[in-house]
Amino acid sequence: MAGRIPDQFIDELLARTDIADVISSRLTLKKTGQNYSALCPFHNEKSPSFSVNPNKQFYYCFGCGAGGNAISFVMEHDHLDFVETIELLAKDVGLEVPREQGAPDRYEQNAELLDLLSKSATFYQQQLIKSPEKLRATEYLKNERGLSGQIAKVFGLGFAPSGWDNLLTHLGTNSETKEKLFHSGMLIEKNEQPGHYYDRFRDRIIFPIRDARGRVIAFGGRAFGDEKPKYLNSPETAVFHKSQELYGLYEAKQNSRTLDHLIIVEGYMDVIVLAQHGITNALATLGTSVNSQHIRKIFKLVDKVTLCFDGDKAGRAAAIRGLEAALPVMQDGKQIRFLFLPEGEDPDSLVRQQGQEAFLKKLDDSSSLTHVLFEYARSQVTLNDEEGEAQFTQNVIALIGQLPDITFKSVLLKQLAEHARIDIETLSTQLSQKQQEANRYRPQTPNSGQNQLQDASHYTQPQGTNTPYYQPVTKQKAVNLHTTTPALNKVEQALLCLLLHPHIAQDIEISDPVLRQPEIELQTLSSVWRFFKKNATKNVGHFLGHNTLGKNANAQQIQVIYALLNHPDAYTKSSISNAKQEVIDMIMEKEQNLGLNTAIARLKSKGNETINNPNDREETYRIMEEIRKKKR
Ligand code: UTP
Ligand code: MN
Repeated sequence: MAGRIPDQFIDELLARTDIADVISSRLTLKKTGQNYSALCPFHNEKSPSFSVNPNKQFYYCFGCGAGGNAISFVMEHDHLDFVETIELLAKDVGLEVPREQGAPDRYEQNAELLDLLSKSATFYQQQLIKSPEKLRATEYLKNERGLSGQIAKVFGLGFAPSGWDNLLTHLGTNSETKEKLFHSGMLIEKNEQPGHYYDRFRDRIIFPIRDARGRVIAFGGRAFGDEKPKYLNSPETAVFHKSQELYGLYEAKQNSRTLDHLIIVEGYMDVIVLAQHGITNALATLGTSVNSQHIRKIFKLVDKVTLCFDGDKAGRAAAIRGLEAALPVMQDGKQIRFLFLPEGEDPDSLVRQQGQEAFLKKLDDSSSLTHVLFEYARSQVTLNDEEGEAQFTQNVIALIGQLPDITFKSVLLKQLAEHARIDIETLSTQLSQKQQEANRYRPQTPNSGQNQLQDASHYTQPQGTNTPYYQPVTKQKAVNLHTTTPALNKVEQALLCLLLHPHIAQDIEISDPVLRQPEIELQTLSSVWRFFKKNATKNVGHFLGHNTLGKNANAQQIQVIYALLNHPDAYTKSSISNAKQEVIDMIMEKEQNLGLNTAIARLKSKGNETINNPNDREETYRIMEEIRKKKR
């Protein structure tokens, strides 16, 4: 294969590869404190002097001095050359190795976005020192939130002063950079003036969101008072997938002497205030519930995770979602605990009032997964007496059924048998029946379905490429135990219509301003529409095949599509007759929100020559039609 492998791809590959996984599939590793040790494969020895550091992602042998990262290990151990190694590792994490040609590829584009995000972070940090309005921010952080300058520095906090274009004028010196800033989520496009932008974050405290390697990938911004929204976050971009990230992971790795336990809390402030009180191992989800991907990610780093929930009704509901997320990714030797705070408290308020000791005590007293599972099964019981007991047993079995086949599963089953005084064989039979039933109706993606009950996290990662592309869940079965599948918004509904009725693409036009919206659902809709418009006889299977592998791969869009096809609404949508109208209505509404004028201005600015393009012509006609309707 020709072409050089871009450096950015190597970075990405290393970011996605866990050296502990790579080495443990080749050597027997033993956990020693934060690190692993083994007999060195590169020289002869009787006692282990080979050590793997999963936090820093390197290995070193104290005996022979061999050392390096995941790539050099595989090269030396498997006797492969560099390119072969890259291809092997890429395959393991499901990436296709790109080759450099003329045009910049996705990884380079991402590198540009990352560079702008890093510059934006620096700009906001400087404003905390330089801005004429800086006192507003520093006083807020110090007096109202009790933060030290030191901790603000650790988390890279910043200040976006009021005004529409502070960042824009500082960084967006030419139109190309402006466009990139827009794609990095830092700017918003003006409704009436396409190609013109303003700052997304204004008059807010800024929290840079870093990935596990410390690269700034997005921002959160908190209002000073009661302005809404309280927290404003970057939108989904090519480098920021909010349902997969955990705020504070990088900082926790940097600032904890040993990292063997992670705590997941709800807010940015909770993470920072806990860290200031010496509890440096807290992370926050980004406005979504904790999902299975989060837990899987954490289990690669540590053996113990505590999910911490505020002591209100929302907190309890979130805990149930946490339980559902935890079960499918549970492993032997790993521990998940649940901490419920007293009513009205969050970790921030609690640790500020009662101090570190009190919070650590609460962690010690937290509930086990087993306890929460049994409690939840009990709370779902509606009947009295024996019938209630039967319900309880069924509920527990249904929950146990979500666990992978690990020892813990039999332990729970045994506990249930003792509690319910039913012999374990009977329960095992019931369990396997329940699982068969569940499997029959579950979409066949490995590990899929597990997150359908959570908001943003319903974009489950498709794993493996041999996934059957369309298996609508039947209506009755899809709701069985889980009644909280999130409702689809209009864009998702329209996208589902297009996926299930691809021929309608021929009769639909979507204007550029809509196609250019950065939200992932609209981006996906755009790709799907373009594909079906070009390929009149193809179906969703072709689309997925075309986009899953190779140069067209777009994992994030594919995730969106899998999630939609697995959504219970896929069943109803597959048989509706007005799919086309539904899509058109959605597009009209978007266009109206964006300002119809935008489209007109754009066509005008393009000049007459472009009207020769049939798409533009159609668009012009459609807009004129709209205007006529409005005048009537
Ligand atoms: P909370 O509303 O529980 O706030 O949001 P908090 O963390 O206690 O914040 P403070 O103490 O008032 O500053 C928890 C998390 O939910 C997301 C943010 O990630 C926040 O940290 N959130 C909240 C938003 O994304 N938008 C909002 O408007 C509110
Ligand atoms: Mn708070």
